[in-house]
Amino acid sequence: MADQTTKQIQDLFVPWLLSAPEYNTSILDKAWAQPDYGRMMLNENPVPPSDKVVNAITEIVKKGNRYPDSMLRLRTKLGALHGVGPENIALANGSSETIDAMMRIFLQPGDEFLLSNPTFEMFLSRAGLCGAKNVQIDLLKDGLQYDVEGMLAAVNEKTKLMLIINPNNPTGIFIDDADLIRFCELGIPLCVDEAYLDYHPQVASKVDLIKTYPHVFLSHTFSKAFGLAGIRFGYVVAVPELVEAFTKMYLPWNMSLMAMAAAEAILDDPDEVKGKVKYNNDWMDTFTKELKAVGLNPYPAHGNYMLIDASVTGKTTGEIVKAGYDQEKLFLKSIKPIHGKDGYFRVTPGTVEESERFVRFVRSYFGK
Ligand SMILES: Cc1ncc(COP(=O)(O)O)c(C=O)c1O
Repeated sequence: MADQTTKQIQDLFVPWLLSAPEYNTSILDKAWAQPDYGRMMLNENPVPPSDKVVNAITEIVKKGNRYPDSMLRLRTKLGALHGVGPENIALANGSSETIDAMMRIFLQPGDEFLLSNPTFEMFLSRAGLCGAKNVQIDLLKDGLQYDVEGMLAAVNEKTKLMLIINPNNPTGIFIDDADLIRFCELGIPLCVDEAYLDYHPQVASKVDLIKTYPHVFLSHTFSKAFGLAGIRFGYVVAVPELVEAFTKMYLPWNMSLMAMAAAEAILDDPDEVKGKVKYNNDWMDTFTKELKAVGLNPYPAHGNYMLIDASVTGKTTGEIVKAGYDQEKLFLKSIKPIHGKDGYFRVTPGTVEESERFVRFVRSYFGK
């Protein structure tokens, strides 16, 4: 009887729900249940929020009986960071909410969403849940840069949205400006996801593109360099007409007072972010040196994660990730074969102690 009921209810779902790719977050249940295991698999920031952030949340929670506004003051400060006004900013519950809303703004069943392979897989899931088709073009075999020619060749009248993550995930590599412009010139809505740009403040945001290309928009998050992944804060930068569309598509009152207060507190304290960025970038340098010392060649990463091709060792991704877990209690990120080659994994610096465990793992597992 129970089976029958399940079948019947599934028959009532919109047809594309069951076939949409899943974005599986079950690793988080494992990680929270085993706090002594290093969380180096999800590009989190290992440094907890400062007392200033904690105090700001504690203060605003006293007003938790009230609905939040659109927080003009915060949007103005964010806009100032990018040289635009508050009318160019819409706030989101982490950039995942932007990822979801952009699909619903631009895609309907049958449309195509053009992006790379591999990519951040949340995009595949949210496009699939709109009934759209994900058209993924492999990164170039040599160097794993975007295959610009391949992507341009895949554009057709059904292509209604495109994605460039800059720097890309999982490679950490930046796209060349001239290549990005070629995508902008198509006139097709283009999301430039700058989730990890804050780790390299010397590289400018592509925000000026929105002035020339109103169909281009930027997605930002405070989950990475700002370290607020569990608090959920992100924003989109776009022309006012597109900001209005995002605002309409996001739920009313989507932002909690706590998330906005936390975001403002850390924005007002740039040294906190600078410290977090330095912490990350120092460990990224250490990991690079250690991996090179055992004959591995990590990709030149610019975020808080590093893609490693360990195929030369003859070990599979599954074996490597299992060994990290068994030997040093580390969660590493499995990466599916790229161009048919197994042996890729990704790692994010953890706490000092976890990062030291990773170094020990590299030496003992790969150094023999
Ligand atoms: C490229 C990219 N965009 C967006 C996100 C989502 O981040 P959040 O929803 O926490 O802002 C991630 C998370 O890892 C990511 O890698």
